[in-house]
Amino acid sequence: CFATAVRGSDPVKAPTVAFAFDIDGVLTQGSNTLPQAKRVLRMLSGENEWNQKFPYILMTNGGGKSEAQRCKELSERLETKIDKSMFMQSHTIMGSPVLPYLDQYADKPIMVLGGIGDACRQIAHDYGYRNVVTPIDVLAWNKNIWPFHQITSEEKKVARTDFDFANTPIHAIAVFHDPRNWALDVQVCLDIVTRGSKSRPAFVSDENPSLSTLRAKIESEEPVELIFCNPDLIWRGAYAKPRLGQGGFREAFQGVHQALHSRRYPAKQLGKPTAETYMHAEDMIMRQIRGISGNSGITDHKQSIYMIGDNPESDIAGANAAGWNSILVHTGVYSPSEGPPSHIPTLEAPDVEEAVYAAISRTR
Ligand code: G3P
Ligand code: MG
Repeated sequence: CFATAVRGSDPVKAPTVAFAFDIDGVLTQGSNTLPQAKRVLRMLSGENEWNQKFPYILMTNGGGKSEAQRCKELSERLETKIDKSMFMQSHTIMGSPVLPYLDQYADKPIMVLGGIGDACRQIAHDYGYRNVVTPIDVLAWNKNIWPFHQITSEEKKVARTDFDFANTPIHAIAVFHDPRNWALDVQVCLDIVTRGSKSRPAFVSDENPSLSTLRAKIESEEPVELIFCNPDLIWRGAYAKPRLGQGGFREAFQGVHQALHSRRYPAKQLGKPTAETYMHAEDMIMRQIRGISGNSGITDHKQSIYMIGDNPESDIAGANAAGWNSILVHTGVYSPSEGPPSHIPTLEAPDVEEAVYAAISRTR
């Protein structure tokens, strides 16, 4: 047990190590917060024999709430202060100047998908996107867009009614979080990318149906940009077996597009394991390291970073590609009974607490 090996060791010299923690399947399992997570984050926050704070961030492919809201909830659940400087979720990067999207689309009509009600629209507004629509807005505009869903009174309350879908091109679609109504969202996304462009409205009013045509025939027009913020086909919630994630929605959309148009629609993928997400995370970790005195000893910072995750496809693959260390835990998507993981970690550990002590014992 690594924990025993490290405790009571040299009380003077704290190890030089920084952590990036995945959330679902590592710190939590749906609504369940793992007790090991509370213990080990308390230790890293300074309750240790070195009286030393260790730099760490939380890095999730989850989303759907503002960073401030998630940090408040995580601080309560983990009984440790989590603030925005140490928290990154799937769509956080959509608000970052390191990517071109804010520059390109801050004042352009874009569609944002995912989550419950109007939450992702508000998050997009907070990032600086000023003209945001959702699939429910389209259904509120014309109920025939998707005849199999009756818009609810709750949805009506948050639907925009000022957007003229028949005369306004939508420039981009960003899937912030996991869509709840895949059928409606696939239909609306298909309409936008196959019948619209950055200069052509995708929808027609019932009075003028002839105006719409398949954009594929108008090569001169710039296609709508499609961005997915989380590639996870599966993730670990409270149920004992993995659940479909945003990657499942992406494959549903691309499967229908492929069936109709004999190809997938070109799309940008963000989230773990993509390089953009890990570069953004590494900047956050370096700021944590610089912010904590006594950790200036971290020179080759890549070798001092340990990603602790439950999903080989996102957590381990991304950390390995970023040149970090990676530790695969057995409390989430991956189970040793499945055989070797699809991406080989630096280490494996039964849970997050053992993983942290394993990392510390390696850096002593
Ligand atoms: O929607 C959340 C899921 O895709 C995975 O979240 O915390 O394991 O990256 P996480
Ligand atoms: Mg996970």
